[in-house]
Amino acid sequence: MSKQILVTGGTGYIGSHTVVELQNSGFDVVIVDDLSNSQIEVLDNIEKITGIRPAFEKFDLSDSVLTDQFFNKYTNIEAIIHFAAFKAVGESVQKPLEYYRNNINSLLNLLTGMKKYGVKHMVFSSSCTVYGQPDKLPVTEATPRKEAESPYGNTKAICEDIMRDFCKTNEDLNCIALRYFNPIGAHESGLIGEFPVGVPNNLVPFITQTAAGLREELSIFGDDYDTPDGTAIRDYINVVDLAKAHVVAINRLIEDKKKSNYEFFNVGTGEGYSVMQLVKAFIEVTGVDLKYKIVGRRGGDIEKIWADTTYGNTELGWKSEKTLEETLASAWKWEKNVRGLN
Ligand code: UFG
Repeated sequence: MSKQILVTGGTGYIGSHTVVELQNSGFDVVIVDDLSNSQIEVLDNIEKITGIRPAFEKFDLSDSVLTDQFFNKYTNIEAIIHFAAFKAVGESVQKPLEYYRNNINSLLNLLTGMKKYGVKHMVFSSSCTVYGQPDKLPVTEATPRKEAESPYGNTKAICEDIMRDFCKTNEDLNCIALRYFNPIGAHESGLIGEFPVGVPNNLVPFITQTAAGLREELSIFGDDYDTPDGTAIRDYINVVDLAKAHVVAINRLIEDKKKSNYEFFNVGTGEGYSVMQLVKAFIEVTGVDLKYKIVGRRGGDIEKIWADTTYGNTELGWKSEKTLEETLASAWKWEKNVRGLN
């Protein structure tokens, strides 16, 4: 029986794309997801793309008993990719305890399982949010972390610290944290993508929903930042490119190419785009007449951030490939598919 990769949160946005890339690379996948922010039908669409239906277990990983039972049943897990987490920045300010309980307990239960059942490797979803507003741009892996702006961001920083400390005393177990910049876009098939519940918080789903007629107009939060056009700058990484970074990280661990048993890498494109540039690129690529207006800044937003990808490119051996235009076209294709538009 071949070894399996456990993908937690595997029916979610980044998780589902990663399952596809893992299966395309020959890995056997088991997904654990409680479906609190994703749909079971995602499994059908993964199967349509890859021809393989991943194994699936529905439960909440913050439950230690259920997590232990899982490892007891699945005895062939070689590595874990841990996506499952609450991820809404604003909501985390309103419900800090839920965020700490869920995001931290899930990691603790998985690390406990790794130690008890001899699962050697973990790749963890971290975020560039751990850098806050850096003093110097672009951010390298040597850029100091700053105090988190939100409970959500703090869970990412705390989880990184937990893995670092865990790895220190468990020398035969290995973790890689991937610090994602802003993931956008969808699979080129249009079969999987981001499916936010309710009004989207993130820029690209708000844009595509507005273009599809679900929202009246896009609000651009602030045009008085210290940037060339006054709107905030981010590093938008294609979700399929990001998914591939996980496969590279898993291979690095399995093939024992790591430099130490706890590592972290930035995963971005290395290029910053302003909100206005992104909106104009979307209009250009899709030909949709998107309505937008400038409003005040959104609380808690940072002004600008983008990655220095040198270390990831050289040491991890991964590089983003897709252009912003291709990525926006894929996001629009997905939205049209979901809404039954042509
Ligand atoms: N924006 C708008 N209008 C919108 C939505 C967003 O102008 O309707 C702007 C934001 O103000 C920001 C940019 O678009 O300047 C990107 O905003 P997103 O909400 O898409 O992304 P964030 O950079 O705020 O947050 C993302 C992830 C977090 C992660 C963070 C790290 O959602 O999970 O990056 O910086 F922690």
